[in-house]
Amino acid sequence: MEDSIDVTLQDKRSELQAQQQASTTLTASSGALLLGFYGLWTLFAQPGFRRVPVGLRVPYLPSSTAQTQNVMRLLRGRGGCLADLGSGDGRLVFAASSAGFRCTGFEINSVLRTLSRARACWKGVPASSVTFISDDFWKVSLTNYSNVTAFLAPGVMEVLGEKFLKELPDDARVIACRFPIPDWPCAASEGHGLDQAWAYDMRSVRSAR
Ligand SMILES: C[S@@+](CC[C@H](N)C(=O)[O-])C[C@H]1O[C@@H](n2cnc3c(N)ncnc32)[C@H](O)[C@@H]1O
Repeated sequence: MEDSIDVTLQDKRSELQAQQQASTTLTASSGALLLGFYGLWTLFAQPGFRRVPVGLRVPYLPSSTAQTQNVMRLLRGRGGCLADLGSGDGRLVFAASSAGFRCTGFEINSVLRTLSRARACWKGVPASSVTFISDDFWKVSLTNYSNVTAFLAPGVMEVLGEKFLKELPDDARVIACRFPIPDWPCAASEGHGLDQAWAYDMRSVRSAR
């Protein structure tokens, strides 16, 4: 009788040990996977950030196809120079250059900038119609741009609005993606939810103040 209890206890102990080992392996693999994802995210989303004040840092998140289409609708009938503030992998810049704009993508992240330049070569887009620049857009004057697109973050839109008011010409149009500029009167808007984009005409914005 005692022998059979011993055997049963032994079996239970082995079962428990096997379960513990499996759960340790699972935790370690999940941890390694998470670290891997975090490493990849850091590689794509963070290089160059040390140069930007903490409150103005905006990580990488690509525009959806619907969002890009909304932006292009709001730019219909326009032309000239366009600046994309934080151009990511260049998708908005390429869409705008196909529509005839001369585009500058400001991108602080060197990995994304290299990717954009490679995509421009691959697509055969001439350097005269698309340029990707490493400058921090907060430190660049936007006086020469008549079209500006910005898919950034809610916390920076008000400060960005002040920069636009100081620098953009009266005939400039600003397209804000996903996050509107607080208290600015918009000329038009396209899309809904996360894909929504707003157009602001600088002359109207100034005369409404
Ligand atoms: C939300 S993503 C938008 C990417 C792209 N415009 C799109 O629509 O797919 C914002 C981008 O801005 C870049 N960025 C953030 N702060 C910047 C700065 N001060 N100067 C230049 N690029 C910046 C980030 O690296 C990121 O790629």
